Amino acid sequence: MLASALDLIGRTPLVALDRVHSGPGRIVAKAEFLQPGGSVKDRAAKAIVLAAREDGRLKPGMPVVEMTSGNMGAGLAVVCAALGHPFIATMSAGNSTARARMMEGLGARVVLVPQVDGTPGQVTGADVAAAADVAAQIARDGGGYYVDQFNASEGIVAHETTTGPEILEQFGGPVDGWVAAVGTGCTFIGVARALKAANPATLCAAVEPEGSEPLAGKKVEKARHIVQGTGYGLVPPHWDTGLMDLSLTVTDAEVEYWHRQLAVMEGLYVGYSAAVNVCAAAKLLRSGRLKVDATVATVLCDTGLKY
Ligand SMILES: Cc1ncc(COP(=O)(O)O)c(C=O)c1O
Repeated sequence: MLASALDLIGRTPLVALDRVHSGPGRIVAKAEFLQPGGSVKDRAAKAIVLAAREDGRLKPGMPVVEMTSGNMGAGLAVVCAALGHPFIATMSAGNSTARARMMEGLGARVVLVPQVDGTPGQVTGADVAAAADVAAQIARDGGGYYVDQFNASEGIVAHETTTGPEILEQFGGPVDGWVAAVGTGCTFIGVARALKAANPATLCAAVEPEGSEPLAGKKVEKARHIVQGTGYGLVPPHWDTGLMDLSLTVTDAEVEYWHRQLAVMEGLYVGYSAAVNVCAAAKLLRSGRLKVDATVATVLCDTGLKY
């Protein structure tokens, strides 16, 4: 028996996606949507809050405040409920309202911040920056602990010490490739470090929406896209260029296609960034850069029920 919801975070199964991609090679994916907050962000939420409690930055009963696209907020709402902290989330009004409902259902207070230049369902870097400013202000005014996920290194450590090693253990050894869409970059960076430590030849690809490709060194030409939680048109503060062997691009139409294919061919009703990751994994396997029987690992970031 597990002691609390905190212990439901991590240790997600690794699932083969042989129906949507029948070769060359194989795509395997961590079912991150099975965690209690419904996304990959539960891991960072747990790691950051536990570290802050451990070193005294977060005192018992103190409010926790964070800007979120909804997934970090859901993870924090789970962790805060289990540990007895009030939680206040600020979110761009452009993110889906299903996310606000889930956070509120978990006892959080949600402050919706008007969009700067995005549109509903299409959240830009400027929209996120506006929501972050409001979160920092609320934390300052109310004596809360500001999580600041983009600058908290514990999120990276969480993936380096859990998600990455889980992939290696569940697959039964090193994989040939790793792809992930990038929000804070914690997932990509942490897992890439673990996989490259096991096999330096593991090819690691960051995935960006077409037109919003700063990691590829390009000027952002199209800030709006449908992949909530990623592709903010900025290089995250902890970005480690040495880990990115290549970058891949996906279009909104490809994302819609793979989102549907994952649902009807695999029975996996996941979110758009999961579709981005699987589309990019298939592109990498077809690119000829890997051997024909290569395995590429990725993450199914969140459930499709949040959209
Ligand atoms: C749906 C979704 N996918 C992917 C990510 C990216 O994860 P990371 O912040 O670790 O880069 C996020 C982050 O919030 C997300 O909400």
